[in-house]
Amino acid sequence: MELIMIISASNQKGGVGKTTTVINLGAALAAAGKETLLIDLDPQGSLSQGLGFQPDKVIGGSYELFANKPVEILWHSENLAVLPTNINLADVSNDIVKNNKHGPTSILKRTIKPLAADFEYILIDTPPNLDYLTLNALGASQYVIIPCQCQLAAVRGLELFARTLEDLAEINDSLEVLALIPTMYTASRKIEQDILTILQNDYGDKCRPPLPDRVEYLRANAEGRAVSGDLFDYWIDLAAFVIGKGGK
Ligand SMILES: Nc1ncnc2c1ncn2[C@@H]1O[C@H](COP(=O)(O)OP(=O)(O)O)[C@@H](O)[C@H]1O
Ligand SMILES: [Mg+2]
Repeated sequence: MELIMIISASNQKGGVGKTTTVINLGAALAAAGKETLLIDLDPQGSLSQGLGFQPDKVIGGSYELFANKPVEILWHSENLAVLPTNINLADVSNDIVKNNKHGPTSILKRTIKPLAADFEYILIDTPPNLDYLTLNALGASQYVIIPCQCQLAAVRGLELFARTLEDLAEINDSLEVLALIPTMYTASRKIEQDILTILQNDYGDKCRPPLPDRVEYLRANAEGRAVSGDLFDYWIDLAAFVIGKGGK
C-alpha cells in the first residue's frame, strides 16, 4: 500500500459542509476500493460523533498526533478507518504555544508519516477557524478541498482563506486547491446563481458542480452515514476526479 494523497477539507467558516465532505468523499473513495483514513481534527468532533465515536470516550484519537504517541486507528467499515477526536484535542493549540520545538504549524506533517504505509487516501476534517489545528492540517496536506456557500459573505471569506494558503507556502510548498465545492445550492435563487458564476470565474476547472441543498443531508448527518441514492453520485464523481489526479 502506498499513500497517494492527504487532503484537508477546510474553510474558516463553520457550517459550510467540511465534515459532510469528509464523510461522503471518504465513503465514495472506500466504495471505489481505496483504503481511506478520515482524521477528525475539529475539537467539536462532529465527524467522530457522526460516525459513532464520542470524544469524551475516545482513548487517544487524533490528539496523539500532537503528543508524540503512537495512534490507534479505528475501523469504521470496509476500506474506511477513522482517527476520531478525543476531548484533549481542544488543548492542542495551548500545548503547541507552550512547547514548540519544531515549528508550530509543521507538527502533523511529521507525525502523520507513519500512517502513510497503511492508507492510500487520508482526509482531514478541520475546525471552523485558522488556528493551529487547521494550519497543521494544511501543512501536512498536498491538497485542500474548500466547501463554500453561494453567499456574498462566504465569497469574501474565501479571500482570507486564499491568503492563508499563500502564507502556508513557506512550510508546505506543495499545497494546492484540489476543488472548490459550492454547497447547499438553491438553483432557483438568482443571488446564488450570480455567486456561483463568481466562484466559477475565480476557480475555473477546480470549481465543482454545485451541491444542491437537500434535507437528506441533515438526515444522513443525524444518522451518521453518507447520503444514499442519486445524491451519493455527486461524491462518486468527486472520488473519480480525486483518483484521476494521481499522487504528487
Ligand atoms: N448539501 C446540503 N444540503 C443540506 N444540508 C447540508 C448540505 N451539506 C451539509 N448540510 C448540513 O449542514 C450542516 C453543516 O454541515 P457540516 O458538514 O457539519 O459543516 P462544517 O463541517 O463546515 O461545519 C450539517 O447539518 C449538514 O448536514
Ligand atoms: Mg465540521
